[in-house]
Amino acid sequence: MRKKIVAGNWKMNNDLDQTMSLIEDLKNLESKGVCVMIAPAFPFLKISKDLLEDYQIEVISQNVHQKSKGAYTGEVSIDMLKSIGISTTLIGHSERRAYFNEDDIVLFEKVRCTLDAGMNIIFCFGEDLKDRKSNKHFDIVKNQLENTVLKLKKESWENIILAYEPVWAIGTGETASPEQAQEMHQYVRNCISKCYDESVSESISILYGGSVKPSNANEIFSKKDVDGGLIGGAALLASDFNEIIKVNS
Ligand code: 13P
Repeated sequence: MRKKIVAGNWKMNNDLDQTMSLIEDLKNLESKGVCVMIAPAFPFLKISKDLLEDYQIEVISQNVHQKSKGAYTGEVSIDMLKSIGISTTLIGHSERRAYFNEDDIVLFEKVRCTLDAGMNIIFCFGEDLKDRKSNKHFDIVKNQLENTVLKLKKESWENIILAYEPVWAIGTGETASPEQAQEMHQYVRNCISKCYDESVSESISILYGGSVKPSNANEIFSKKDVDGGLIGGAALLASDFNEIIKVNS
């Protein structure tokens, strides 16, 4: 059975006090049957982990650097994350691709090094509005996956979660319709099945991300190939995040 997952990507939001207070509120989550994850900013990963030590909420990172160490000012390595007990990271978020020029070559390197080091990844992908309007969204997504995760060995897929995040739906209030999400998730599952086999494609959790809110979560998550969500804005409010999790349980 595929895992149901709801992950909150806090992006560059919340200072120390706000981080601690949101975590305090999250301790009352009702998360039966759902893996809950949160991705606070780098400076607050350790304290978040400590505060959630006795809770079933995994603290994950939003990014990682592909080099093991050295003169890479401002970056954070896999070993640094592992040394504070972080075992999962997002890779390939569209904001990293767009604002930090992370292309498929860099992303493949990140994916490879992170998995080799025994960490899990949530690999994000998705088309922008122009691609969707010109009906190229399937080709774009296929390309993003073929240049990265589909190059991996079958064994690596045990540590991969995918997140389809159409760029035009992120932070815009415009969500992909449940049908659009289902159609893409099914397409991705088929790509995985063709590249490996059904045992892989059927075991992979594929999350949807892009303006998920308590009001639309139910419809989206009810689709058969949608295994949960990667939540931005609505993850910053414990009550909204909790509502979204409850829909999945
Ligand atoms: P929003 O939920 O704010 O649209 O963000 C989605 C996202 O980018 C999660 O990674």
